Amino acid sequence: MTVHKLCNETDLNIGDKKAFKIADEHILLYRLDDGFYATQAGCTHLFKSMEKGLLIDGDKIQCPLHRATFDVRTGEPTLWAHFPPGIQLLNKVRKEKPLKTYTLKIDNGEISVDLSVAA
Ligand code: FES
Repeated sequence: MTVHKLCNETDLNIGDKKAFKIADEHILLYRLDDGFYATQAGCTHLFKSMEKGLLIDGDKIQCPLHRATFDVRTGEPTLWAHFPPGIQLLNKVRKEKPLKTYTLKIDNGEISVDLSVAA
């Protein structure tokens, strides 16, 4: 079974995010002004969960640890880890890497994730 129910559309308002653990995948679901998106919850820099990260500019998730920022729609980094000063030394071995994104299905207001097509 690769399609798993997450929640209902009405469970999130625009600007909200919610974390799920499904079949060993840690997923962050976001509601943006144009719909729902999902990425891996763990930052690709040093794996910190971004469940408590800030959603900035309406469509980017900022990691709470070193402030790497990712486009929620594509998973691409828009700003790599840059806090605290000196973290750039670590970045020599922790290169920019996008977040995995997931395909969502919405049926009768119910949101599901299809784990067979994660990108
Ligand atoms: S763990 Fe996320 S920016 Fe370092």
